[in-house]
Amino acid sequence: MTRKLIAGNWKMNGSLQANAQLLQGVQAGVGAPRCDVAVCVPAPYLAQCQQLLGEGPVQLGAQDVSAHAFGAFTGEISAAMLRELGVRYVIVGHSERRQYHGETDQQVSLKAKAALANGITPIVCVGETLLERESGQTELVVKRQLAAVIHDNGHCISEIVVAYEPVWAIGTGKTATPEQAQAVHAVLRAQLTAASQHADRIAILYGGSMNAGNAKALLAQNDIDGGLIGGASLKAEDFLSIVAACP
Ligand code: PGA
Repeated sequence: MTRKLIAGNWKMNGSLQANAQLLQGVQAGVGAPRCDVAVCVPAPYLAQCQQLLGEGPVQLGAQDVSAHAFGAFTGEISAAMLRELGVRYVIVGHSERRQYHGETDQQVSLKAKAALANGITPIVCVGETLLERESGQTELVVKRQLAAVIHDNGHCISEIVVAYEPVWAIGTGKTATPEQAQAVHAVLRAQLTAASQHADRIAILYGGSMNAGNAKALLAQNDIDGGLIGGASLKAEDFLSIVAACP
């Protein structure tokens, strides 16, 4: 496996002042991290954060991208625009976008494709709801979500990052146990291995109430290659403890 990746997902939080303070704290404490580190910030703050991050070790990420290249798509942001702002990663298919904005597997896979075409690594989110888990459909759901992305992206699939985020664990304080997460990660790894000779390059992150207390045990699992961190990425100290928990 390659280096682990810890990516913060700020969601719709922040302000010019709060971002400057948070990034100052993160940069002051990050040192020379053992893992790759990124922050996925709200679009209006990309330019500010690009400037604040400079050439330091923390990379810039966005939270969504259009599947289209340009044109009459009011409100959308293209991958080329993100690229111009130094964006290295973009989250696609986050469960909040699937749930509140009706994003389909197909749209998510086209967003991943647009990102890849512009040299941006898509962090493709998959994950089941509580109802789906309780009715024994976890594997079916995550495999279906990932299959769409594999189908549309062919051999480029080795350039993506996958994030397994059980919906019931996001922002709820309920984390999947390391064993529960590892079991799903192993399923995703097998699916990626069947699709690409270079599947060992693909990082599979865990996301869902990952914090300073549980990060170490999760990151110690064979197929957990990092984390996508929501709430705990909004405090420099908490985010840095997760970065430090990387083996
Ligand atoms: P959480 O969010 O860490 O606050 O649960 C994770 C995510 O939604 O990416």
